[in-house]
Amino acid sequence: MSFKVKWLGHASFAMEIDGYRVLLDPFITGNPATDLDPDALEADFILISHGHGDHVGDAVSIAKRTKARVIANFEIVNWFTQQGIENTHPQHIGGGFHHDFGYVKLTIAHHGSALPDGSYGGNPAGFLITSKGGKRVYFACDTGLFYEMKFYGEEGIDAAFLPIGDNFTMGPDDALKAVRLLEPKAVIPVHYNTWPPIEQDAAAWVKRVNEETSAKGVLLKPGETYEVE
Ligand code: NI
Ligand code: MN
Repeated sequence: MSFKVKWLGHASFAMEIDGYRVLLDPFITGNPATDLDPDALEADFILISHGHGDHVGDAVSIAKRTKARVIANFEIVNWFTQQGIENTHPQHIGGGFHHDFGYVKLTIAHHGSALPDGSYGGNPAGFLITSKGGKRVYFACDTGLFYEMKFYGEEGIDAAFLPIGDNFTMGPDDALKAVRLLEPKAVIPVHYNTWPPIEQDAAAWVKRVNEETSAKGVLLKPGETYEVE
């Protein structure tokens, strides 16, 4: 049983969860942090947090080619259906479902969610994934700080991926508060340095996590994999 999370830069992830290939917000084309070929990405499931272009990314073409099941909120799933994607599973915030790779709960996110063509994308979400092997990983996705993170933390989080870029999401100070609410075993900063408005010193943030909280801060480079312990 294993839960591996490869960071593709920005807020894009390719996971391997107990043998299942799960993409989250596969933003490859136009992502300056990766030179991956989106046509070479394999997937069994694709999770989409919200409608923005840097999250929907290449998901339509990857879903068409791989027939991976798209999991997102009801409105985004409807949009994927309109793009010709048949294998979908709608959920909504606060709701969880047992998928083949584990239990996925959609979490609160304070953000926007309009789709690339202007369609209504419902409310944005994050993901709390509990694998069948019992590892629990929280992806806050694009959000500002909110106190209910404390409740997610009470479920016992092995690893949390938090945005630190500021401007569009939490910045470093609020993300540090999020770490205190979530009390994850490990925390990895994402959604920074992709473009000038979200430039941050992630190494300095990880150092603060290690000095000021009980979590282990982990600094990944784009393309690196974190294996959840
Ligand atoms: Ni966004
Ligand atoms: Mn974003």
